[in-house]
Amino acid sequence: MNKIIENMLTRRSVRNYKKEQIPVEDLNTILLAGSYAPSGMGMQSWKFTAIQNADTMKKVNEAIRQTLLTIPVVAETHPYIVSLIKKAEDENSNFLYNAPTYIIVSNLKDNGNAMPDSALAIGNMMLAAHSFGIGSCWLNQLPGLTNMPLIRELMTDLGIPENHIIYGSVVIGYAAEEPAPAAPRKDVIHII
Ligand SMILES: Cc1cc2nc3c(=O)[nH]c(=O)nc-3n(C[C@H](O)[C@H](O)[C@H](O)COP(=O)(O)O)c2cc1C
Repeated sequence: MNKIIENMLTRRSVRNYKKEQIPVEDLNTILLAGSYAPSGMGMQSWKFTAIQNADTMKKVNEAIRQTLLTIPVVAETHPYIVSLIKKAEDENSNFLYNAPTYIIVSNLKDNGNAMPDSALAIGNMMLAAHSFGIGSCWLNQLPGLTNMPLIRELMTDLGIPENHIIYGSVVIGYAAEEPAPAAPRKDVIHII
């Protein structure tokens, strides 16, 4: 099988990471691959903020944890959100799977293509990482909380522009264990 297709078919989400940091050359190539994703009207209006500093990772994790704790649980709160809030009650909870590197993809609030553009960039990054034997997992907590005051403060500290919101984020690092095999593919293909 062609190596590119094989890379796509064998990537899996990794949720348990070794402490070992990935080489900065690999990080640069992963980010470069993200920057070559297609974007609506070629705008490239995204920004990729990559964090490898352990203290900054802790700060991000704590901002997510503290923000979750501000969310009131009401009858309509989705059970997944309730489970995240419960997890946040433990001050040792890690929302970044203890990965050594975290990439935040932000983009213009008012660009209608920002979501698909950002997702395509993250897809490229995940596949590039996998081609180096580096695992990854999309994380939705920070994007989901992007409009909360504490997260906006964090974004400013991280140098994310004021006219951006977070559309996606991805942790990367070496897998501490083999991820489970892919779920069987659903019957979604219809060729006319
Ligand atoms: C938009 C999006 C949001 C996701 N959010 C999370 C998340 O918050 N936490 C997580 O562990 N995985 C998250 N994932 C990973 C999916 O659960 C995973 O891709 C899916 O179960 C298929 O598994 P695979 O990536 O190994 O093929 C997300 C994936 C996508 C595309």
